[in-house]
Amino acid sequence: MFDVCIVGGGAAGLMLARSLPRSYKIAVLTKAAPSVSNTALAQGGIAASLHSADSADVHASDTIKATAGHADTGRVEMLTREGASAIRQLMEDGLPYDKTDSGEPLLGMEGAHSVRRILHSGGDQTGKVLMDFLMKETEKRIQTFNYHQVLELLVDDNKCTGLMASDSSGQRKIIHARHTVLATGGIGALYSHTSNSPVAEGDGLSLAYRAGAVLEDLEFIQFHPTVLNIDGTSAGLVSEAVRGEGALLVNNRGHSIMDGFHPLKELAPRDIVSRAIEWHWQREGPVYLDARHIPDFHVKFPAIHQNCRLHGLNPSADLLPVRPGAHFHMGGVKTDDKGATTIKRLYAIGEIASTGVHGANRLASNSLLEAIVFAKRLAGLIAQLPAEAGESDVPAIQQLPSGRSLPAVTLPYPGPKRLKMTQDVGILRNKQQLQDFIRENPLPPDLEVKNASNEAVAHHHRQTACTLMAMASLYREESRGAHFRTDFPAPSADWQGKTIAISKNGIFTEHREILSKETV
Ligand code: SIN
Repeated sequence: MFDVCIVGGGAAGLMLARSLPRSYKIAVLTKAAPSVSNTALAQGGIAASLHSADSADVHASDTIKATAGHADTGRVEMLTREGASAIRQLMEDGLPYDKTDSGEPLLGMEGAHSVRRILHSGGDQTGKVLMDFLMKETEKRIQTFNYHQVLELLVDDNKCTGLMASDSSGQRKIIHARHTVLATGGIGALYSHTSNSPVAEGDGLSLAYRAGAVLEDLEFIQFHPTVLNIDGTSAGLVSEAVRGEGALLVNNRGHSIMDGFHPLKELAPRDIVSRAIEWHWQREGPVYLDARHIPDFHVKFPAIHQNCRLHGLNPSADLLPVRPGAHFHMGGVKTDDKGATTIKRLYAIGEIASTGVHGANRLASNSLLEAIVFAKRLAGLIAQLPAEAGESDVPAIQQLPSGRSLPAVTLPYPGPKRLKMTQDVGILRNKQQLQDFIRENPLPPDLEVKNASNEAVAHHHRQTACTLMAMASLYREESRGAHFRTDFPAPSADWQGKTIAISKNGIFTEHREILSKETV
């Protein structure tokens, strides 16, 4: 059997593969081509205290302030402390990064950071550069299964032993593994407005839920303020780093829309900027990003420049129409501080995990950092666990009889479904919308995967993920961070320090240790 089977080939999955012992037999499954992931699209960079004027404590304090009083503060402190040394190590190991003329890391600014601490590679192509680096480092150590859809996790007596997957021809197989890791990324592709890659469909949420794991914080969905909006359609992210360089948010008369919303204006926490933009769109009309005054835009932001030009816009001469889009899921599969879920031998890392470090609102550029730090921690945990008797006799792959190979086609989640998510489980929610959504899209009943088509299984997973997010959003009767209820528009002391956990056993609240006083 494989030592480790990793579902997902983004930063978290590949960093784990890189950090595991060299002798390990590792499988990595991706739903599409290996280069297709949210990591590859990450423009912002990696936040880490690399400068003498900064420290892990200041980074932790900025993170905690942004998380709206909902972060696990002990884990945030661990993230920023271990993160700084993990990033320094990657830089020493050859990760390319942008430098000043004197050879120091060129650190950028983003919303709610109190100092410049964002490390970039290739300007706005940090994610792609990181992916290329990790793919090169791991290619000889892993067995890849690209274009593979995971249909279900195999769990017996609360212990995961692998998974069932299908390739793109519909041929199904069982992959047996000592350890199974969900690194499936986020949920943005379930929304019509998103910055995410089409593969980010929340599969990991549903796979884990069906297997019996506990999920938490599902109501906390971050909407990125500035997704390019061309004729009502999302057309790629315009990084917050552009606002960090001074770009302004204006209405169609050229007036700032952030005046009066927050003292930090364009660099206020993301949830606040997103709500300001969305309110403006709904009441007054389009919002634009004015980056015309930024010198050398095409040099600082080559990928954004190229994408704008593709859509007939020149950031140095034109206003860029922007609207918020689903960007990052703070919640996910509940894990401990090393990535272990509530099911033995099943783990979650990266965006699919709920580690508590992002609270109700993730600080910009903390996601790649989280992926790297928790992948390393998980590698350390797995390497310590000895193989159990009889494991080496189990075959790594078992092809299923071809009679079970049902049609493979999986079409994208239908547009009307995604629009409904944007409207009802979006930036502004209320009880009526959420109840209607759940009534029209109830949690699907258990599915006999072996007798269902791949298309039916994919649909089942997407619908499960959407409905679970709506259920958690309905349950939390307050507004906090990225979760904004128009019928409960303020944070409530009753909800402070409470997380919403969901499993097959139901929906319940749990206590989270919030030690810091620096909460919103
Ligand atoms: C951005 O570049 O604005 C996105 C970075 C992030 O979400 O951390």
